[in-house]
Amino acid sequence: MPTQLKDVPDALLSDFDIVADTGLAEDPQQRLLEALVRDPRDIVYTPHNGGHWLVTSHELGREILSNAERFGSFPIGIPANMEQRPRLIPLESAAAEHRRYRRLLLPIFEPEAVGRLQTGAEKLAAQVLDDVLPTGEFDFLWKVAKPISMGLFVNQLGLEPERLDDFYAWETGFYRAPTMEERVQCGENIGSYLFEVVKQHVASPKDDIVSMLLDVEVEGEKLSLEEVHAICYLLFLASIDTVATMLSFIVRHLARDQALFASLKADPSKIADSVDEFLRMHAFINLNRICERDTEFHGVQFRAGDNIVVPSFVTDRDDRVFADPDTFNSDRSKRERNQHHAFGAGAHKCIGLHVAKMEVRVVLEALFARVNALSLVSEAAVVGHGGTTMGLDTIPIRVS
Ligand code: HEM
Repeated sequence: MPTQLKDVPDALLSDFDIVADTGLAEDPQQRLLEALVRDPRDIVYTPHNGGHWLVTSHELGREILSNAERFGSFPIGIPANMEQRPRLIPLESAAAEHRRYRRLLLPIFEPEAVGRLQTGAEKLAAQVLDDVLPTGEFDFLWKVAKPISMGLFVNQLGLEPERLDDFYAWETGFYRAPTMEERVQCGENIGSYLFEVVKQHVASPKDDIVSMLLDVEVEGEKLSLEEVHAICYLLFLASIDTVATMLSFIVRHLARDQALFASLKADPSKIADSVDEFLRMHAFINLNRICERDTEFHGVQFRAGDNIVVPSFVTDRDDRVFADPDTFNSDRSKRERNQHHAFGAGAHKCIGLHVAKMEVRVVLEALFARVNALSLVSEAAVVGHGGTTMGLDTIPIRVS
């Protein structure tokens, strides 16, 4: 039986609600800094969202994420109770199966394959920015970040661009609709739409990821139709909004840090090197794992079925690993650079990280090539949310 509140020692209790705390809507990062980064405890238990642990030290978080046998990845989510939907492949697959899926998927996401997507990304970034920049003032998330990242995703999977509004609504609803029923409904909408997409690709193959998944073969093994469907479902959830979210945090950072803006504007060759530091400072996924059996973890008793949340933003501000973690420093040592948890860690580390980094870099390069100054219309107008994936909901900016 999972841990009950009454069994948790007072010293480990926290009242922080990582989904609905009102401060998260004002500024998710600021709230996590106050509530968790400045809390010296490495492990706490909160009764909110079905009750779960929060592991906030970088080292312990990495230990959890790297031990897939002891800490499983089904079901993903806070609260972790969306069991009615199909398992997300490969994220929620058991260890042995997961290795097979990764082997099959790696060729599609390796750096050379991603290089071929870059021209399309450059074209779309230029087109979107050239359309919106002359207006001088706009919502960066909705007018730039989402149209670019969703536009690329839609091309990569051969989806219908005219249904972008449905995709935004299903994805947001899947994570954050007010009731569990609505969340499940959004999940079903995604699932049935993508099943049609996969069937269409079987009938007439295209030059995109769905057809690659249907074709991919490693050592004589191929993916079944159901497996391709489940992978597309995860790709939809994992990539449709993540790049846009990262870009919106980065642009808010640049608007607040004029010295950094000026330095990247003066020398755009530094942009590529700054991407990992931006990712570290703005990691936004609150990763979770399910404890497979009763186990003692660094002096704390976890029970089978416990949900253990590792907030990547918090572990990436751990000063035992990152010197002066609240300061942007793109010259960090290679050891520090490779440690951030923006893409997770261990067996499930983001397989799309090369795509994500390429897209972030391309959009920043296109932005710096066109913009001389950038500021927030007002700090108060920027609002956000907590939950499994934190983010900003709107970010009005002014540019010249
Ligand atoms: C800035 C953008 C992105 C961020 C911050 C991000 C973050 C993450 C994180 C933290 C995980 C690990 C989840 C866990 O262990 O529970 C993950 C997994 C994954 N991501 Fe990403 N991601 C991004 C973009 C993408 C893109 C663009 C794609 C696809 C093109 C993608 C595909 C995946 C897949 C398939 C997994 C599951 C890997 C596995 O289970 O082996 N991600 N991502």
